[in-house]
Parts: sequence; structure tokens; C-alpha cells
Amino acid sequence: MLDKTPMQTLADRARAVLPAGGLGNFDPSIFIREGRGSRVWDEDGREYVDYLIGSGPMLLGHGHPEVLEAVAEQLPRGMTFFANNAAAVDLAEEICRAVACAEQVRFLASGGEADMYAMRLARAATGRDKILKFEGGYHGMSAEAQMSLAPTRLVNFPQAVPDSAGIPEAVRAGMLIAPFNDLDYLDSLLAEHGADIAGLIVEPLQRIIPPLPGFLQAVRGLCDRYGIVLIFDEVVTGFRFAYGGAQEEYGVTPDLCTLGKIIGGGFPLAAVAGRKDIMDHFDKAAVGADRWLMMLGTLSGNPAAAVAGLKTMEILRRDGAYGRLRAHGERLQAMFARHLDAAGIDHRIVGHPMLFDVVFTDRNVRSYRDVAAADTQRSAAFNAALRANGIFKSPGKVYPCLALTEEDFAMTEAAIVRATEAIA
Ligand SMILES: Cc1ncc(COP(=O)(O)O)c(C=O)c1O
Repeated sequence: MLDKTPMQTLADRARAVLPAGGLGNFDPSIFIREGRGSRVWDEDGREYVDYLIGSGPMLLGHGHPEVLEAVAEQLPRGMTFFANNAAAVDLAEEICRAVACAEQVRFLASGGEADMYAMRLARAATGRDKILKFEGGYHGMSAEAQMSLAPTRLVNFPQAVPDSAGIPEAVRAGMLIAPFNDLDYLDSLLAEHGADIAGLIVEPLQRIIPPLPGFLQAVRGLCDRYGIVLIFDEVVTGFRFAYGGAQEEYGVTPDLCTLGKIIGGGFPLAAVAGRKDIMDHFDKAAVGADRWLMMLGTLSGNPAAAVAGLKTMEILRRDGAYGRLRAHGERLQAMFARHLDAAGIDHRIVGHPMLFDVVFTDRNVRSYRDVAAADTQRSAAFNAALRANGIFKSPGKVYPCLALTEEDFAMTEAAIVRATEAIA
């Protein structure tokens, strides 16, 4: 009998103690041992160019020396306090400088929590109950967010479909679902329900689908007309598309936004940021007990995470960082398109240079249903071939990072050539 590899042994152990043999996030058969710069190594010693980058936080690449130094300076002085700390104030100030909608910031440990509180804040601020989200939009794992995230049953809008067991019917009844990028539908939905809706939550770039020109501006206008709190989920786009996030990139300022990933520099830290009059609902003295939103969390504003985020953001402010990132992304997009075009394979490169993927379809992708109708088997085969050729990515995204080198691009191109041959 052949000996098991270290990863196979780990997978056996994991299956015993972790449900479904993993963390729930990613293909449980692969175990990452180490990451440095643009590369990761698995427990069997295979090396990959990393386009997963921890699902987004490691925009500088793994183990950036200046971030390591900042964290190493903080750790001997304490890892977490629960109490106020200066690093959290520094981070909140920098977020307020950078992000157009941010007048105040409340920290949490994960992006999903931030989204949950942002929706709750919209209810507290308006005294209304309903939340509108778009089909296919991802906002973490709260009961509200688990509505029509990845429905396999396509029902009529605005009906919500829970993606998970264990969600009370009452939550479903409080959610309205609309198709992304469909302004006419949204207009008619709000004409009927606008006065009952507390908040509209949207990923400005939904998963990888860009907003059509003018869509977010029109959403802003509709929220103003009906007194709805507009929430941009910038957990992914914040400090990635531009220093000021998607709101800077698309020129639309929401009332609230949620942030995560990059602002924690690879540690657990996320935030709700927004207009002071809305954020005041976190302050009992400002709004009174009845309109106060109670919120606390053991790791909120953790100083090790805050210094990692601050250093990451400082490096991103330096000359040309966003220009280089954009150029990396555009180069990768062109690389995928060139080889797939040459092989005559129907596809679209969908997204933004800082976040995109290949969708195997012959039509333009504007909404969740367009992605759902694409050739997912071909996509799985393409991704498997990329992995076999040293490319580490999520099944639905390519995240470029600043640490990419010429060798990474060469290795990526070789992998794309082989993956294209594999599906041709
Ligand atoms: C747009 C968006 N919102 C929220 C989240 C949830 O963040 P977290 O995984 O930190 O809870 C994610 C995670 O990928 C996300 O992509």
C-alpha cells in the first residue's frame, strides 16, 4: 500500500474533528502550510502563485516585512484588551479620512458581523423593518444575508429564498430581493414597498459583476427619495478598488458602508462606518434607550489587528500602489482573454482589474442569473487544471496582489495555456 502524503493524513484527521473535513470555506483536500509574498505552499510541498490571498485581505502579499514588524512591536505590549486602545482610534481616524461616507466607525471581528449590524442600524435609524438585498449578493452569514445568496430555485422577485437551514420564516418575510443592475424593476418595487424599507444593502461590484454605468447613482437617488439607508458592503472593495474603496471608484457615497479584510491586515477586524446621525444609534446617550443598538464583541478593535491594518493602509497610500495593482489585474485579464479567444472558447472576463474571474458563457453577465446560466462544469475543469499547474484561486474569483513578480506572470501564463488546452 502506498504511504499517504502529509495532506492525505491531515485530511483523515480533519474529517474526524471538523464537519465536512474542513473550515467550511474552501476545498478541504488542500492544506496551506505557508505563504510568502505572492506564493503559498501546501503541506505536500507544492508551490502555487496565490490568487486567493486569504480571500482578499493579503493585498500586499503574505508576510510583508513592515506589517510583520508593526505586529511584532505590538504583541509584547498586549494582544487584546476589550478596553479602548490608541491603535483603534488611529485606525478609525484613517478610515474617516479615506472613505467618503465615514464620519464614525464601529469595529467588529468579521465582515459578516459588520453587515448584520449595518442592517440593524438601518432599522434603528428609520424605525422600519424591511431590508432589500440583491439576488446573489453576499453579505456574510446572518439570517438576513442568507436570503437569495446562491439560490438554485429561481423564484419570482421580490420573494426571498433561504440558502441555509435554521432560518426562521419571520426573517424571510422581512427581506425583499431584487435583480442586480435592473433599475426598472427596482423603481417599481420601491414604488410599492419603499415606505416600509429600512435599508438597501449592495455590493457595489456584486461578487464579480460590475454595476452598469449609472446603476449605483440611480440606487442612491431612489434611496434618497424613499428615505432608505443605503449600505455599501465594501468588505471586499474597500481599500482595494481605490484607497477610498468602491465609493471613490464609482463616485457614489452611501449612508453606511461595511469594511473588513484589508483593514485588519490579515487579522480578525471589520467595521461599520457611516453618517454620524446614523452611527449615533450605537450611542445610548445620543438616541435614548429605545433607539439604541446594543453591540459589543470581545475582539472588537483588537490592537494587533488594528496595527496590521494601519500599516497595510500606509503602504497602500505610497506612490503608485493602486496603479501597479490595476496594471497587474489588467495584464492578467488580458492573458486569460488572449488564450481563451485563441482557442475559440466562449467566455467573458467579468469584474474589475482588482477582482475578476472568467465566466464561460456567450452572453454578457449583468446579474446572478447570468452567472448561474453559465457553464459551471467547464469552469470547474478550468480551475482544476489551473490548480494542477500551480495556480491557487477561489472557484469564483481572481484576486491580484501587489507582490506579483515577472516569474509569477510567466508561471500564470503557462498554467492558463495548459488549462485552456484541458477544456478546449
Ligand atoms: C462582500 C462581502 N461581504 C461580507 C463578507 C463577510 O466577511 P467575513 O468573512 O469577514 O465575515 C464577505 C466575505 O468574503 C464578502 O465578500
